Amino acid sequence: MFSPPWLPLPPVLVIRMRRCLIVGNWKLNGDFALCEQFANIVYPINPSLDIVICPPAVLLQSLKEMIKHNSACLHIGAQEVSIETQGAFTGEISAKMLYEAGAQYGIIGHSERRQHFAETDQGVAKKMFNLLSAHISPIVCVGESKIERDNQETLSVIAAQLSPIKRMLQQHRVSCAKIVIGYEPLWAIGSDQPATPDLAQQIHRYIREYMVDLPDSEALRVIYGGSVTTDNSGLLLAMPDIDGALVGGASLNTDSFLGLLPSAL
Ligand code: 13P
Repeated sequence: MFSPPWLPLPPVLVIRMRRCLIVGNWKLNGDFALCEQFANIVYPINPSLDIVICPPAVLLQSLKEMIKHNSACLHIGAQEVSIETQGAFTGEISAKMLYEAGAQYGIIGHSERRQHFAETDQGVAKKMFNLLSAHISPIVCVGESKIERDNQETLSVIAAQLSPIKRMLQQHRVSCAKIVIGYEPLWAIGSDQPATPDLAQQIHRYIREYMVDLPDSEALRVIYGGSVTTDNSGLLLAMPDIDGALVGGASLNTDSFLGLLPSAL
């Protein structure tokens, strides 16, 4: 449509068919006192918003108790799950145990797990299966390193990470409404250099297209992570294929976390 140059462009209307999802990943941070601070926040009551806080596993149950009477938007999630379901695996925590502790979501395939704990794409797919079997929604993280990005390998890296995930979802006819993909480019994590909204949008679109032939693919939520803060969340969340944010550093403080929640959806 032609617009004379002296007229302002009409605002872009982003019609959201998926609920916005903001996930705070505390990583190896936080304690009982931080749980209390987050439990005492007055969260928005917004039917289009889900908020998930992922403390270390030992704090899940306490946080669950503390938030009992808080907003219906608020959920708790685990940061990791065992590839095993039971048995002689000292130190491991199964999906069923996480569910009983209150987890409704579970992060898997985070780049820090892939880098430091030799997590494989196949292993991530198995963990996804374990979470789904325990009625926990997996948040599957994918993303490329700086070198891979510089070598123009972003899309092939993401396709390789998603491939076993997609196969497992196809095999078990799982609805995409039950899973979340987190796009977290490694170079953006903890760097104060988030992907630009345009770049993140392109990759999110690619992820959505890659998963398009799965059941209920239009319900798949793809969220962005990597240096999300109050200052940049608005522009990122305004992108049509960015359904939310996966937040590290800014999720450790109630003000910075509240500040990045979308005020209107
Ligand atoms: P930052 O928000 O600190 O960059 O961390 C992102 C992340 O890894 C969330 O899982």
